[in-house]
Amino acid sequence: MQPAHKSEEITIAEQRLTASRKLGRPVMIRQGMPIMGVSILNEAADLPSGVFALADEIPNASFSGEIALVTGGASGIGKAVVQSLLERGAAVINLDINPAVEGLFDTLRYLGIRIDLTDEAALDSAFRAAVNTFGGLDMLVLNAGIFPPGIRIESLGMDEWRKVMAINLDPNLSVLRRAHPLLKRAPRYGRVVVNASKNVLAPGAGAVAYSSSKAAVTQMGRVAALEWAKDGIRVNMVHPDQVFDTGIWTKEVLEARAAHYGMTVEQYKRRNLLGVEINSRYVGEFVANMLGPMFEFVTGAQIPIDGGSDRVI
Ligand SMILES: NC(=O)c1ccc[n+]([C@@H]2O[C@H](COP(=O)([O-])OP(=O)(O)OC[C@H]3O[C@@H](n4cnc5c(N)ncnc54)[C@H](O)[C@@H]3O)[C@@H](O)[C@H]2O)c1
Repeated sequence: MQPAHKSEEITIAEQRLTASRKLGRPVMIRQGMPIMGVSILNEAADLPSGVFALADEIPNASFSGEIALVTGGASGIGKAVVQSLLERGAAVINLDINPAVEGLFDTLRYLGIRIDLTDEAALDSAFRAAVNTFGGLDMLVLNAGIFPPGIRIESLGMDEWRKVMAINLDPNLSVLRRAHPLLKRAPRYGRVVVNASKNVLAPGAGAVAYSSSKAAVTQMGRVAALEWAKDGIRVNMVHPDQVFDTGIWTKEVLEARAAHYGMTVEQYKRRNLLGVEINSRYVGEFVANMLGPMFEFVTGAQIPIDGGSDRVI
Protein backbone atom coordinates (compact mmCIF):
# COMPACT_ATOMS: atom_id res chain seq x y z
CA MET A 1 0.00 0.00 0.00
CA GLN A 2 1.21 3.49 -0.83
CA PRO A 3 1.43 6.17 1.90
CA ALA A 4 -1.68 8.41 2.05
CA HIS A 5 0.24 11.61 1.28
CA LYS A 6 1.66 10.13 -1.92
CA SER A 7 -0.15 12.36 -4.38
CA GLU A 8 0.95 15.67 -2.80
CA GLU A 9 4.60 14.58 -2.85
CA ILE A 10 4.31 13.33 -6.41
CA THR A 11 2.81 16.64 -7.51
CA ILE A 12 5.82 18.47 -6.07
CA ALA A 13 8.30 16.00 -7.59
CA GLU A 14 6.57 16.46 -10.96
CA GLN A 15 6.79 20.26 -10.66
CA ARG A 16 10.50 19.84 -10.02
CA LEU A 17 10.94 17.47 -12.96
CA THR A 18 9.19 19.93 -15.28
CA ALA A 19 11.26 22.87 -13.98
CA SER A 20 14.47 20.86 -14.34
CA ARG A 21 13.64 19.92 -17.93
CA LYS A 22 12.85 23.53 -18.71
CA LEU A 23 16.20 24.66 -17.29
CA GLY A 24 18.11 21.74 -18.83
CA ARG A 25 19.57 20.56 -15.50
CA PRO A 26 18.34 19.35 -12.08
CA VAL A 27 17.03 22.09 -9.84
CA MET A 28 15.72 22.17 -6.25
CA ILE A 29 12.34 23.72 -5.62
CA ARG A 30 10.84 24.99 -2.39
CA GLN A 31 7.22 25.42 -1.34
CA GLY A 32 6.22 28.57 0.56
CA MET A 33 8.48 31.56 1.05
CA PRO A 34 11.87 32.26 -0.56
CA ILE A 35 14.74 32.15 1.93
CA MET A 36 16.97 35.05 2.83
CA GLY A 37 20.29 34.71 1.09
CA VAL A 38 19.19 32.07 -1.44
CA SER A 39 18.76 33.25 -5.04
CA ILE A 40 15.77 32.05 -7.00
CA LEU A 41 15.31 31.46 -10.72
CA ASN A 42 11.58 31.44 -11.17
CA GLU A 43 11.10 33.11 -14.54
CA ALA A 44 13.09 30.50 -16.40
CA ALA A 45 11.66 27.57 -14.44
CA ASP A 46 8.04 28.62 -15.06
CA LEU A 47 6.72 27.43 -11.67
CA PRO A 48 3.34 28.20 -10.07
CA SER A 49 3.21 31.03 -7.51
CA GLY A 50 4.39 30.00 -4.06
CA VAL A 51 6.94 27.57 -5.51
CA PHE A 52 10.54 28.66 -5.94
CA ALA A 53 13.43 27.19 -7.92
CA LEU A 54 16.65 27.61 -5.97
CA ALA A 55 19.86 28.76 -7.62
CA ASP A 56 22.88 26.48 -7.18
CA GLU A 57 25.07 27.26 -4.19
CA ILE A 58 28.05 25.59 -5.90
CA PRO A 59 27.53 26.14 -9.64
CA ASN A 60 28.64 23.29 -11.91
CA ALA A 61 29.34 20.86 -9.05
CA SER A 62 28.59 17.29 -10.09
CA PHE A 63 25.41 17.01 -7.96
CA SER A 64 24.24 20.66 -8.14
CA GLY A 65 20.44 20.84 -7.98
CA GLU A 66 20.17 17.22 -6.84
CA ILE A 67 18.78 15.87 -3.58
CA ALA A 68 19.97 12.93 -1.50
CA LEU A 69 18.57 11.17 1.55
CA VAL A 70 20.96 9.35 3.87
CA THR A 71 19.94 7.19 6.84
CA GLY A 72 22.17 7.06 9.91
CA GLY A 73 24.38 9.95 8.86
CA ALA A 74 25.04 11.47 12.29
CA SER A 75 28.20 9.42 12.71
CA GLY A 76 30.80 7.23 11.00
CA ILE A 77 30.29 6.13 7.40
CA GLY A 78 26.91 7.85 6.98
CA LYS A 79 28.30 11.18 8.14
CA ALA A 80 31.16 10.85 5.66
CA VAL A 81 28.67 10.09 2.88
CA VAL A 82 26.71 13.23 3.77
CA GLN A 83 29.90 15.30 3.66
CA SER A 84 30.94 13.92 0.26
CA LEU A 85 27.47 14.61 -1.19
CA LEU A 86 27.36 18.18 0.20
CA GLU A 87 30.82 18.83 -1.27
CA ARG A 88 29.47 17.75 -4.67
CA GLY A 89 26.69 20.36 -4.46
CA ALA A 90 23.76 18.10 -3.47
CA ALA A 91 21.15 18.94 -0.85
CA VAL A 92 21.11 16.24 1.82
CA ILE A 93 18.36 15.04 4.14
CA ASN A 94 19.98 13.13 6.98
CA LEU A 95 17.78 10.86 9.15
CA ASP A 96 19.28 9.68 12.43
CA ILE A 97 18.16 8.86 15.97
CA ASN A 98 21.12 10.83 17.35
CA PRO A 99 20.02 14.42 18.13
CA ALA A 100 23.41 15.66 16.89
CA VAL A 101 22.06 15.09 13.37
CA GLU A 102 20.10 18.35 13.46
CA GLY A 103 22.98 20.84 13.43
CA LEU A 104 25.69 18.73 11.87
CA PHE A 105 26.41 20.77 8.71
CA ASP A 106 26.08 24.52 8.32
CA THR A 107 24.48 25.00 4.91
CA LEU A 108 20.92 25.57 3.70
CA ARG A 109 21.36 22.45 1.58
CA TYR A 110 21.41 20.33 4.75
CA LEU A 111 18.30 19.09 6.57
CA GLY A 112 19.08 16.89 9.58
CA ILE A 113 16.04 15.22 11.09
CA ARG A 114 16.12 13.35 14.39
CA ILE A 115 14.07 10.22 13.87
CA ASP A 116 13.89 6.63 15.00
CA LEU A 117 13.74 4.85 11.65
CA THR A 118 11.51 2.16 13.14
CA ASP A 119 8.75 4.82 13.54
CA GLU A 120 6.60 4.74 10.38
CA ALA A 121 4.64 7.92 11.19
CA ALA A 122 7.88 9.83 11.77
CA LEU A 123 9.15 8.57 8.41
CA ASP A 124 6.05 9.98 6.71
CA SER A 125 6.72 13.38 8.29
CA ALA A 126 10.40 13.26 7.35
CA PHE A 127 9.60 12.55 3.69
CA ARG A 128 7.01 15.33 3.66
CA ALA A 129 9.54 17.78 5.13
CA ALA A 130 12.20 16.68 2.65
CA VAL A 131 9.93 17.15 -0.37
CA ASN A 132 8.61 20.50 0.85
CA THR A 133 12.14 21.76 1.48
CA PHE A 134 13.96 20.55 -1.65
CA GLY A 135 11.32 19.24 -4.07
CA GLY A 136 12.07 15.54 -4.54
CA LEU A 137 14.74 12.89 -4.36
CA ASP A 138 17.54 11.81 -6.70
CA MET A 139 19.76 9.68 -4.47
CA LEU A 140 19.19 7.42 -1.49
CA VAL A 141 21.81 5.87 0.79
CA LEU A 142 20.54 3.17 3.16
CA ASN A 143 23.20 3.16 5.83
CA ALA A 144 21.80 3.19 9.40
CA GLY A 145 22.61 0.09 11.39
CA ILE A 146 23.67 -1.37 14.70
CA PHE A 147 26.25 -4.02 15.47
CA PRO A 148 25.17 -5.88 18.62
CA PRO A 149 27.60 -7.67 20.96
CA GLY A 150 28.61 -11.16 19.77
CA ILE A 151 26.19 -13.92 20.85
CA ARG A 152 26.17 -17.48 19.51
CA ILE A 153 22.96 -18.98 18.07
CA GLU A 154 22.24 -21.20 21.07
CA SER A 155 22.23 -18.16 23.39
CA LEU A 156 20.50 -15.62 21.16
CA GLY A 157 17.05 -14.60 22.41
CA MET A 158 14.26 -13.71 20.00
CA ASP A 159 14.03 -10.19 21.41
CA GLU A 160 17.62 -9.46 20.46
CA TRP A 161 17.11 -11.05 17.00
CA ARG A 162 13.99 -8.95 16.39
CA LYS A 163 15.68 -5.76 17.58
CA VAL A 164 18.49 -6.17 15.05
CA MET A 165 16.04 -6.92 12.23
CA ALA A 166 13.81 -4.00 13.29
CA ILE A 167 16.71 -1.55 12.86
CA ASN A 168 19.03 -3.08 10.26
CA LEU A 169 16.38 -4.48 7.93
CA ASP A 170 12.76 -3.33 8.21
CA PRO A 171 13.23 0.48 7.92
CA ASN A 172 15.04 -0.03 4.62
CA LEU A 173 11.85 -1.41 3.07
CA SER A 174 9.85 1.49 4.55
CA VAL A 175 12.30 4.03 3.14
CA LEU A 176 12.57 2.36 -0.27
CA ARG A 177 8.79 2.22 -0.56
CA ARG A 178 8.42 5.93 0.17
CA ALA A 179 11.40 6.88 -2.01
CA HIS A 180 10.29 5.05 -5.15
CA PRO A 181 7.74 7.53 -6.57
CA LEU A 182 10.26 10.35 -5.99
CA LEU A 183 13.31 8.54 -7.43
CA LYS A 184 11.19 7.68 -10.45
CA ARG A 185 10.78 11.42 -11.07
CA ALA A 186 14.46 12.33 -10.64
CA PRO A 187 15.65 14.46 -13.58
CA ARG A 188 18.83 12.38 -14.05
CA TYR A 189 17.26 9.10 -12.86
CA GLY A 190 17.25 7.81 -9.31
CA ARG A 191 20.21 6.09 -7.65
CA VAL A 192 20.39 4.00 -4.48
CA VAL A 193 23.36 2.65 -2.55
CA VAL A 194 22.82 0.10 0.22
CA ASN A 195 25.53 -0.11 2.88
CA ALA A 196 25.51 -3.79 3.80
CA SER A 197 28.67 -5.48 5.17
CA LYS A 198 31.49 -7.89 4.43
CA ASN A 199 29.51 -10.16 6.76
CA VAL A 200 27.21 -10.90 3.81
CA LEU A 201 30.07 -12.47 1.85
CA ALA A 202 32.05 -13.75 4.84
CA PRO A 203 29.82 -14.07 7.92
CA GLY A 204 31.26 -14.02 11.41
CA ALA A 205 30.61 -16.50 14.21
CA GLY A 206 28.67 -14.81 17.01
CA ALA A 207 26.97 -12.42 14.59
CA VAL A 208 23.98 -14.37 13.28
CA ALA A 209 21.46 -11.56 13.67
CA TYR A 210 23.75 -8.90 12.18
CA SER A 211 24.94 -11.12 9.30
CA SER A 212 21.38 -12.25 8.53
CA SER A 213 20.03 -8.69 8.58
CA LYS A 214 22.76 -7.53 6.21
CA ALA A 215 22.24 -10.51 3.88
CA ALA A 216 18.53 -9.73 3.81
CA VAL A 217 19.02 -6.04 3.06
CA THR A 218 21.41 -6.99 0.27
CA GLN A 219 18.74 -9.23 -1.20
CA MET A 220 16.24 -6.37 -0.82
CA GLY A 221 18.58 -4.13 -2.82
CA ARG A 222 18.99 -6.77 -5.54
CA VAL A 223 15.22 -7.13 -5.89
CA ALA A 224 14.88 -3.32 -6.04
CA ALA A 225 17.49 -3.31 -8.84
CA LEU A 226 15.37 -5.85 -10.74
CA GLU A 227 12.05 -4.10 -10.16
CA TRP A 228 13.17 -0.48 -10.67
CA ALA A 229 15.46 -0.77 -13.71
CA LYS A 230 12.44 -0.02 -15.90
CA ASP A 231 12.18 3.34 -14.08
CA GLY A 232 15.85 4.09 -14.74
CA ILE A 233 16.67 3.68 -11.04
CA ARG A 234 19.89 1.84 -10.26
CA VAL A 235 20.56 0.13 -6.95
CA ASN A 236 24.01 -1.02 -5.87
CA MET A 237 25.44 -2.45 -2.67
CA VAL A 238 28.70 -1.88 -0.79
CA HIS A 239 30.24 -4.33 1.65
CA PRO A 240 32.68 -2.43 3.87
CA ASP A 241 34.84 -4.14 6.46
CA GLN A 242 36.72 -2.81 9.46
CA VAL A 243 36.11 0.90 9.12
CA PHE A 244 37.35 1.87 12.55
CA ASP A 245 36.62 5.62 12.83
CA THR A 246 32.90 4.98 13.42
CA GLY A 247 30.48 4.61 16.32
CA ILE A 248 30.32 0.82 16.15
CA TRP A 249 34.03 0.42 16.90
CA THR A 250 34.84 1.54 20.44
CA LYS A 251 38.45 1.64 21.68
CA GLU A 252 37.69 -1.33 23.96
CA VAL A 253 36.26 -3.48 21.16
CA LEU A 254 39.22 -2.65 18.94
CA GLU A 255 41.72 -3.57 21.65
CA ALA A 256 39.86 -6.79 22.45
CA ARG A 257 39.75 -7.87 18.77
CA ALA A 258 43.44 -7.06 18.29
CA ALA A 259 44.32 -9.07 21.42
CA HIS A 260 42.16 -11.97 20.14
CA TYR A 261 44.42 -12.17 17.06
CA GLY A 262 47.63 -11.60 19.07
CA MET A 263 48.20 -8.29 17.24
CA THR A 264 48.70 -4.66 18.17
CA VAL A 265 45.80 -2.36 17.34
CA GLU A 266 47.84 -0.88 14.46
CA GLN A 267 48.51 -4.33 13.01
CA TYR A 268 44.89 -5.34 13.45
CA LYS A 269 43.65 -2.24 11.61
CA ARG A 270 45.57 -3.32 8.50
CA ARG A 271 44.61 -6.98 8.67
CA ASN A 272 43.66 -7.23 4.99
CA LEU A 273 45.45 -8.39 1.85
CA LEU A 274 46.57 -4.91 0.78
CA GLY A 275 47.63 -4.01 4.34
CA VAL A 276 45.69 -0.74 4.25
CA GLU A 277 43.59 1.09 6.83
CA ILE A 278 40.14 2.00 5.52
CA ASN A 279 38.46 5.07 7.00
CA SER A 280 34.93 6.40 6.75
CA ARG A 281 36.01 9.29 4.51
CA TYR A 282 37.22 6.79 1.90
CA VAL A 283 33.91 4.89 2.05
CA GLY A 284 31.96 8.18 1.85
CA GLU A 285 33.81 9.18 -1.31
CA PHE A 286 33.36 5.69 -2.74
CA VAL A 287 29.59 5.80 -2.20
CA ALA A 288 29.35 9.32 -3.67
CA ASN A 289 31.17 8.09 -6.76
CA MET A 290 28.76 5.16 -7.07
CA LEU A 291 25.93 7.70 -7.13
CA GLY A 292 27.65 9.62 -9.94
CA PRO A 293 28.04 9.17 -13.69
CA MET A 294 30.82 6.56 -13.48
CA PHE A 295 28.19 4.03 -12.34
CA GLU A 296 25.57 5.17 -14.85
CA PHE A 297 25.22 1.74 -16.45
CA VAL A 298 25.67 -0.39 -13.31
CA THR A 299 22.88 -1.83 -11.19
CA GLY A 300 22.56 -4.77 -8.80
CA ALA A 301 26.33 -4.81 -8.16
CA GLN A 302 27.95 -5.67 -4.84
CA ILE A 303 31.36 -4.16 -4.11
CA PRO A 304 33.53 -5.12 -1.14
CA ILE A 305 35.42 -2.18 0.42
CA ASP A 306 37.76 -4.17 2.60
CA GLY A 307 41.37 -3.88 1.40
CA GLY A 308 41.04 -7.41 -0.02
CA SER A 309 39.99 -10.47 1.93
CA ASP A 310 40.89 -14.08 1.15
CA ARG A 311 37.48 -15.07 2.54
CA VAL A 312 35.73 -12.82 0.03
CA ILE A 313 37.93 -13.23 -3.05
N1 LIG B 1 32.32 0.37 10.59
C1 LIG B 1 32.45 -0.79 9.99
O1 LIG B 1 33.49 -1.44 10.10
C2 LIG B 1 31.33 -1.33 9.14
C3 LIG B 1 31.58 -2.46 8.35
C4 LIG B 1 30.55 -2.96 7.56
C5 LIG B 1 29.31 -2.37 7.56
N2 LIG B 1 29.08 -1.29 8.34
C6 LIG B 1 27.74 -0.69 8.31
O2 LIG B 1 27.84 0.70 8.08
C7 LIG B 1 26.67 1.33 8.59
C8 LIG B 1 27.10 2.57 9.36
O3 LIG B 1 27.79 2.15 10.52
P1 LIG B 1 29.05 2.91 11.14
O4 LIG B 1 30.12 1.93 11.21
O5 LIG B 1 29.28 4.19 10.45
O6 LIG B 1 28.52 3.10 12.65
P2 LIG B 1 27.93 4.36 13.40
O7 LIG B 1 27.41 3.83 14.69
O8 LIG B 1 28.96 5.42 13.45
O9 LIG B 1 26.70 4.83 12.49
C9 LIG B 1 25.43 4.24 12.52
C10 LIG B 1 24.38 5.35 12.58
O10 LIG B 1 23.07 4.74 12.54
C11 LIG B 1 22.25 5.46 13.44
N3 LIG B 1 21.11 4.64 13.88
C12 LIG B 1 21.15 3.47 14.56
N4 LIG B 1 19.89 3.06 14.85
C13 LIG B 1 19.05 3.99 14.33
C14 LIG B 1 17.63 4.14 14.32
N5 LIG B 1 16.82 3.24 14.91
N6 LIG B 1 17.11 5.22 13.71
C15 LIG B 1 17.90 6.15 13.14
N7 LIG B 1 19.26 6.06 13.12
C16 LIG B 1 19.82 4.99 13.72
C17 LIG B 1 23.18 5.77 14.62
O11 LIG B 1 22.68 6.81 15.45
C18 LIG B 1 24.46 6.14 13.89
O12 LIG B 1 24.56 7.53 13.63
C19 LIG B 1 25.94 0.30 9.43
O13 LIG B 1 24.84 -0.22 8.72
C20 LIG B 1 26.98 -0.79 9.63
O14 LIG B 1 26.42 -2.05 9.82
C21 LIG B 1 30.06 -0.75 9.13
